[in-house]
Amino acid sequence: MITTTGLTKVYRSRGRDVTALDGVDLHVREGEIFGVVGRSGAGKSSLIRCVNLLERPTSGTVVVDGRDLTALAGRGPRAGAELRRARSRIGMVFQHFNLLSSRTVQGNVELPLEILGVPGRERARKARELLGLVGLADHARAWPAQLSGGQKQRVGIARALAGDPKVLLSDEATSALDPETTRSVLDLLRDLNRQLGLTILLITHEMDVVKSICDSAALMRDGKVVESGTVSGLLATPGSELARELFPLGGPPTAADRTVVDVTFHGDSTARPLISRLSRTYDIDVSILGAAMDTIGGRQVGRMRIELPGRFEDNVVPIGFLRERGLTVEIAGTAEAAGTTETAEPVEAAEKTVEDAR
Ligand SMILES: Nc1ncnc2c1ncn2[C@@H]1O[C@H](COP(=O)(O)OP(=O)(O)OP(=O)(O)O)[C@@H](O)[C@H]1O
Ligand SMILES: [Mg+2]
Repeated sequence: MITTTGLTKVYRSRGRDVTALDGVDLHVREGEIFGVVGRSGAGKSSLIRCVNLLERPTSGTVVVDGRDLTALAGRGPRAGAELRRARSRIGMVFQHFNLLSSRTVQGNVELPLEILGVPGRERARKARELLGLVGLADHARAWPAQLSGGQKQRVGIARALAGDPKVLLSDEATSALDPETTRSVLDLLRDLNRQLGLTILLITHEMDVVKSICDSAALMRDGKVVESGTVSGLLATPGSELARELFPLGGPPTAADRTVVDVTFHGDSTARPLISRLSRTYDIDVSILGAAMDTIGGRQVGRMRIELPGRFEDNVVPIGFLRERGLTVEIAGTAEAAGTTETAEPVEAAEKTVEDAR
């Protein structure tokens, strides 16, 4: 539904070039909710503004619903007629709502319809329908100043839906809201996604937002997408930074002389029976410190953090046992490693021993 290829944006400010996007390839499938996360300055807003051509990319292409927007003339307020038409099918929701205080709630929702040249009666009908959809049927005559933050954002969402978009872009839509209101706005987005088949690309700095409604996610850093995939796929990717942040697995070893390992499993290997078999085979007590799992196509994927008694060297054989059965095992920490600065070397040396033992 949305594909960017080699998307690059260089801003020129006070004689200096700032590369906000550096060759971004992103693919958002039809009907999914796709979350983009990253630190401040990573290029998230630039990405979303380039997707609807509010900013013209320096290079690269943006295809939305089969249409190459970058091939159409103009940008921002100076967009040509064709680009304006294509853009009316892309809704946009903003962090600070951007409502006009001089218009009623209904007047705000009617605004994009006025710009599209929809006649008065039809405009009013459509606006009321949209306000019903976002749960604000009773507030059509209210003024923005009389609404709570959550209600204002609902108006913002209704307005974004005025052109019957297939795609909704959201830049930190819930960042100005308290947790409870955030929850209800996210539920609304999820409902709209399901009811209308709306594809949603959302930018957020909150992992919880991704966790609660996104089907897929990407992590941006320094203008680049460094990781992306479905949330379940990321969960099953060994070493995934996004998975680690989305599903933190608990802490360091609970006592000296213990080894903590992260086990990633995907489909063929179901972790739980293997963990109990490990425990029986080697007669060791295995503690599960944390786990995050999902089921895709009837198969479990996920990660589990377990603690084994003994130091790393004592666990070479049990770890080899898990690896031989198709699980990816990464060393999360050993008690003595946690207390010293030279963690890498002993672990690497021990990893080598594991390889040799196989
Ligand atoms: N209009 C502009 N002119 C010059 N530089 C800009 C402009 N807009 C953004 N930048 C720069 O581009 C980089 C990416 O900015 P962007 O706003 O896309 O980041 P972001 O990920 O949305 O950050 P935040 O989480 O703080 O909103 C930053 O270094 C920023 O200073
Ligand atoms: Mg931003």
